[in-house]
Amino acid sequence: MASRVIPVETFDLVIFGGTGDLARRKILPGLFRRFLSGQMPADARIIGAARSDLDQAGYRQMIKDAILEFGGAEKEDAVCLAKFLEQLNYTPIDAKGEAGWKALAGMVRRDVVQAFYFSVAPSLFGDLAARLHSHNIATETSRIVVEKPFGRDLETAKALNKSLADHFDESQIYRIDHYLGKETVQNLMAVRFGNVLFEPLWNNHYVDHIQITVAETVGVGGRGAYYDRSGAMRDMVQNHLMQLLCLIAMEPPSQFGADEVRDEKLKVIRALQNVESHHIVRGQYDAGKDGDGYRHDAENPRSFTESFIAMRCHINNWRWAGVPFYLRTGKRMKSRVSEIAVVFKDLGHSIFEGDEKRHRNILAIRLQPNEGMDLQVTIKEPGPGGMRLIDVPLDMTFAEALGDDAEDVTDAYERLIMDVIRGNQTLFMRGDEVEAAWAWTDPLIQGWEARNDVPKTYEAGSTGPEDAQMLLHRDGRRWRDLKV
Ligand code: BG6
Repeated sequence: MASRVIPVETFDLVIFGGTGDLARRKILPGLFRRFLSGQMPADARIIGAARSDLDQAGYRQMIKDAILEFGGAEKEDAVCLAKFLEQLNYTPIDAKGEAGWKALAGMVRRDVVQAFYFSVAPSLFGDLAARLHSHNIATETSRIVVEKPFGRDLETAKALNKSLADHFDESQIYRIDHYLGKETVQNLMAVRFGNVLFEPLWNNHYVDHIQITVAETVGVGGRGAYYDRSGAMRDMVQNHLMQLLCLIAMEPPSQFGADEVRDEKLKVIRALQNVESHHIVRGQYDAGKDGDGYRHDAENPRSFTESFIAMRCHINNWRWAGVPFYLRTGKRMKSRVSEIAVVFKDLGHSIFEGDEKRHRNILAIRLQPNEGMDLQVTIKEPGPGGMRLIDVPLDMTFAEALGDDAEDVTDAYERLIMDVIRGNQTLFMRGDEVEAAWAWTDPLIQGWEARNDVPKTYEAGSTGPEDAQMLLHRDGRRWRDLKV
């Protein structure tokens, strides 16, 4: 049973920064996969625009190489790849000057869906937005796509929002958080709002606490300079973890529409309590068995930037009052695990004699690897000898449950780009959401800067600093294992 692919309307997609890393690793390989699936119309066009003085053939060759390297394209795809490349054009452009804009204006059609992907430094967003208008390229229905980092604090995020809002309406702006495009993240909404089972239990009467973990094994690699100015809080918590928290905690929207969903997420962010300093643990990885330390990777021997963060948050509303949300994310950790675990409360009383163990139902939603969910339930241990209880997972790994269809799980970028073409903003962040997230994050960062907080070191390849374990131990809880 193959999944149904609904072709999108024809479009012109201009990728500013078309020769950059994101375009070569994610955007264009993603578009190629949509092409292979039959979703991309034969007359749709992709126009790479960047500073390099390439010609069309040179650009096509560059993208062909990128797709072969990053796109998982097989040899058998060669004919399709050649066809896909025919839909690809290139034009050199100067974002800060006038060169190249007339040529671009001559290339972009005004009577089809127009999307402009700003895969460039945020400092160029305003220039691009302005020139798209002054050269009469953009229309009232064009869409622009922007990437994180969307500011580094509330003030810069507001300035960025304004630089876009001066030229485009909010309904035209698509701010990508690629976590929202992940299959399991969307499944989280399907599970919550498509089943009768969970909603009655989804509150402080039944939920003991929630853990959100995004652990990576990679270090900061070649992105040291960017990362050292950001740290885990700006790079991961303010956006990806915050979005996961919103989807887990939000009230049911009246329908699965862009503003309905985003209104509910915004309410969660605004209801977040300020986090006290003793509920935040910052860490920085030290050299481990198989790699260097953070300071070496970031080429900053005196860096105090965190590559790990764990924190305990609270949401001030009726549903969640008193329920801790523990967030943790880090680089160079023991294993690559992203999951959300909803840990339900203990039974108040056990009817089984001699059963002193704490049995808990846990719903774990695994984003990666092995996308899927498992629900820990308590059952009788098989065999004679009375009622001994054990906890077992009811495991649903999508790859097993869905068979061939699991192979059709689209990558986050592919899905999100197609949503842009379809004009569906549900999985994109609205400007006010981004600002609210910074408004919550800013005082925490300012707090540790004012205290000259020094991150705790942790060994590369470990589960993070000891203090992160203590954060939960103090509350009589423990982190879930980082097992794959
Ligand atoms: C990016 C961060 O947004 O997300 C990276 O900037 C991080 O630092 C990445 O590695 C993680 O994404 P994924 O999809 O691999 O979990």
